Amino acid sequence: MEKVNKMDSKNRKVLRVYRTKAQAKKAYDKISRFYDYFAGVFEKKYRNRALELLDIKRGEIVLEIGFGTGHCLKKMAELVGEKGKVYGIDISSGMLEVSKRRLEKAGLLGRVELYCGDASKLPYEDNKFDAVFMSFTLELFDTLEIPKVLNEAKRVLKSNGRLGVVSMSKGKGDSFSLRLYEWMHKKFPQYIDCRPIYVEQSIREVGFEINYKEEVRLFGLPGEIVIAVKPSES
Ligand SMILES: C[S@@+](CC[C@H](N)C(=O)[O-])C[C@H]1O[C@@H](n2cnc3c(N)ncnc32)[C@H](O)[C@@H]1O
Repeated sequence: MEKVNKMDSKNRKVLRVYRTKAQAKKAYDKISRFYDYFAGVFEKKYRNRALELLDIKRGEIVLEIGFGTGHCLKKMAELVGEKGKVYGIDISSGMLEVSKRRLEKAGLLGRVELYCGDASKLPYEDNKFDAVFMSFTLELFDTLEIPKVLNEAKRVLKSNGRLGVVSMSKGKGDSFSLRLYEWMHKKFPQYIDCRPIYVEQSIREVGFEINYKEEVRLFGLPGEIVIAVKPSES
């Protein structure tokens, strides 16, 4: 079993993100055609579990932030059915093209509207969505931007609308594997861009009610799946 050290406030800090949005876009454009062959394979199980917990129903209007190669968009389009609608925003035009092809092939493009842009400012009106989903994307935003993105998700959700997030997490302890991963992230941020964050806490802090949380292990590292609700009074 892995040895977990005592909490150490210095090591518990969430790492900052220094890459610009233009650099992020460029990096994802570059890997969009190959993404499914590496990262996509490892993440599949967790994004499917998170989507299952989000419990999307027929006729709903839903949004995915950072849809990547579009696997979840396709599932969401099947779940909402003909009467529902799926929206997606991603900073990478390469990812958008890959997703579009996937949806076209499945005959589902008519139910989906894709937008290429930065999710820290969502191009949607207030109270539009029944559910918002983020899979391995929240942890890409810089520390000060995380509440911004979550507040934007809250703004565009209807009251009692659901937020589903699956993300790398700081977990509870300061394990060797977490430190090693963070060291690699600091050394090679262009290749290892996700970093562990406080998932549930960040969501709670912007005023969501936490409905459900599942702790998962992502190749030995902590992860969280959180389902939260926008309270009716906000
Ligand atoms: C790690 S991938 C995850 C993709 C997909 N959600 C999945 O689970 O397979 C992160 C995605 O977020 C997108 N992204 C990164 N920064 C973004 C931003 N500021 N706004 C919108 N999308 C962003 C990337 O282009 C990429 O498609």
